[in-house]
Amino acid sequence: MVNRYYAKISGTGHYVPEKVLNNFDLEKIVDTNDEWIRTRTGMFERRIAAPDQAASDLAYEASLKALESANLRAKDIDLVIVGTISGDHAFPSTACLVSKKLGIKNVPAFDVSAGCPGWIYASNIALQFVENGTSKNVLVIGVEVLTRIVNYEDRNTCVLFGDGAGATIMSRAEPKDISRVIDSDISADGHYSDLLIQPAGGSKMPATEQTVKDKLHTIHMEGNKVFKLAVKSMYSSCDLLLKRNNLDVKSIDWLLTHQANLRIIDALGKKMKIDKDKVIINIEKYANTSAATIPIALDEAIRSGKIRKGDIVLMSSFGAGLTSGSLLIRY
Ligand code: ACO
Repeated sequence: MVNRYYAKISGTGHYVPEKVLNNFDLEKIVDTNDEWIRTRTGMFERRIAAPDQAASDLAYEASLKALESANLRAKDIDLVIVGTISGDHAFPSTACLVSKKLGIKNVPAFDVSAGCPGWIYASNIALQFVENGTSKNVLVIGVEVLTRIVNYEDRNTCVLFGDGAGATIMSRAEPKDISRVIDSDISADGHYSDLLIQPAGGSKMPATEQTVKDKLHTIHMEGNKVFKLAVKSMYSSCDLLLKRNNLDVKSIDWLLTHQANLRIIDALGKKMKIDKDKVIINIEKYANTSAATIPIALDEAIRSGKIRKGDIVLMSSFGAGLTSGSLLIRY
């Protein structure tokens, strides 16, 4: 017989590297300009990891802050899940490396490869573990060092990405707790897998001198096609969660979507008919940090007092796969 418990987000933290690369810096690297980037994407700055920083280093810093805000110690964590597509190595998992850095031993740790919704996927998995009573405190991280796999000669992609980490703790909620994870949805359609891909470096196309020369270890994207699917997939996922929980859009205090393009966020907001001032946006500061965008923005909004206890927050994302998913919480 499986017990059924509730889950809540009990702590959040984020970390971004110190080095800032803004649109004017990019003008010096590639044939682009501040005006194009701002009007087409809403981005202005992005952070770049230092040469000695890998995904696990960023994730570790974010995790310390999340633990502190949850008032927990590393030994209280009984599962570590990392959403990433730019982990330290193909293996071992970045989750194992973060566990080592935090001094966590003998608890399960694994990565989830789901592109930008990596943190949403990881949260959905954590939810199952907490709800069925297996875990009490799950460390759920979204982290990317995408600038290591960006081709700075390709203006179509290089302006879009940045590095960062967001960490959250999903804990068992007490029956009297106002905070609760209400519902979650994840989905994928592999038929669109070619639209957003790092072609080389895996078993299909192992690294050779030629693949490196041809820059096949970098991000390749058909931006236009992804754009249309992004709005569609996030809308259906949000709509499903609202309908399944008998909520209408007016009950949502905050909409927090993946920060990939301001025009995508605006188009989704419009389609959902949600007030503009209920939409959380930080894309101008960090650009697209893939799996890290939502947990970074969530932490910022909580720390700045924007999101308050009891607020209903709907989070939604899409990305390489193509994958999509949402998480609905009462904070
Ligand atoms: N600077 C100047 N001009 C540029 C740049 C640039 N950085 N990039 C492209 N252009 C040019 C193109 O060459 C093209 O010129 P042309 O008309 O002479 O051929 C023109 O601008 C228009 O290009 P489009 O690709 O049609 O521009 P669009 O308005 O679609 O914007 C963008 C491109 C920003 C990539 C947009 O399509 C987008 O945001 N797509 C979704 C990206 C995304 O969300 N990815 C998923 C997440 S990432 C992940 O999972 C890892």
